[in-house]
Amino acid sequence: MKIFTKSICALIATTTLMFGHGDAAPQKVDTKGLPEIGIEVVTNPFSGNEKAIEIGKTAFNQNCARCHGLGAKSGGIAPDLRLLTDGDDTYFLGMVRSGAVRNGNVFMPPFPEDIIPNSALWAIYSWLETLPED
Ligand code: HEC
Repeated sequence: MKIFTKSICALIATTTLMFGHGDAAPQKVDTKGLPEIGIEVVTNPFSGNEKAIEIGKTAFNQNCARCHGLGAKSGGIAPDLRLLTDGDDTYFLGMVRSGAVRNGNVFMPPFPEDIIPNSALWAIYSWLETLPED
């Protein structure tokens, strides 16, 4: 019984750590239909690719919209990603992989490759490229 109680406590502690700030759990993106993209690729290989744009939209809604807004229209909490411009590819890659953490405060969590594979990251960027700025 004691062991049982202990594991329940551990489970609660872990769950609280993971969801304690009301953060939705990141969701692994399904990239079926897209080729794998290596880490050495630092500019968007999928611009205008319809399959990528479709996957990117879903991936964005699953992982980014809660802060950056539906349709990437920011409600003011996080930057408006429709405003990223040509040539922001490498910056985008860096932001998604590193997130924004300052003085221990997580403004944006980092997204590792097992959640957002490189192909999904570029799919999101491809979708963002299709959005008008207003
Ligand atoms: C928990 C909220 C949150 C989530 C989830 C989130 N972001 Fe962010 N993001 C932010 C905040 C806040 C900033 C501004 C960071 C700063 O102040 O340095 C930011 C900044 C960025 C920037 C830099 C924008 C600029 O104009 O400089 C990019 C690019 C970005 N996020 C992409 C994404 C993508 C793509 C996702 C989903 C995979 C995502 N973010 C998920 C909160 C979030």
